[in-house]
Amino acid sequence: MSLDAGPSRRTLLGVSAAACSACVLAACAPSGSGSGESATGGGGQGSTAPSAASGTPVQVLKLADVAVGDSSSGEANGQKLLVYRPDQETVEAFSAICTHQGCTVAPAGAEFHCPCHGSVYSAQDGTVLDGPAPKPLPRYTAAIDGDWITVTL
Ligand code: FES
Repeated sequence: MSLDAGPSRRTLLGVSAAACSACVLAACAPSGSGSGESATGGGGQGSTAPSAASGTPVQVLKLADVAVGDSSSGEANGQKLLVYRPDQETVEAFSAICTHQGCTVAPAGAEFHCPCHGSVYSAQDGTVLDGPAPKPLPRYTAAIDGDWITVTL
């Protein structure tokens, strides 16, 4: 008699496990590495190509706030950005949204570090140096305009 209860419990557990797996997969898809186009904002550009300059340059940081060889974070039009200054006349800009699961990546000199799972990106070109991040940080067109660093979003 008690054996009859066994299969039905297994069936319930099986259904429950299948439903749970589906939930986990569904939850991962939007914020994971799948399409990830919404994380880039500004029209969902690809991950490595610079944004097609669809807008006008926006002042993000004062030039004096980013030393040569260092990086900093800023924000423009609601988008979190990372800026790196490899030399006196050049600036690079990237999305600060981690391509792994969407955490905000922090500047760390010539690298960018994600605090969530340890991904490390190159500040030179946004490529992944370490960690679970599946692809580079989206890159934006950046320039020096007088005392300002501008980014075209
Ligand atoms: Fe996982 Fe950035 S969100 S490493």
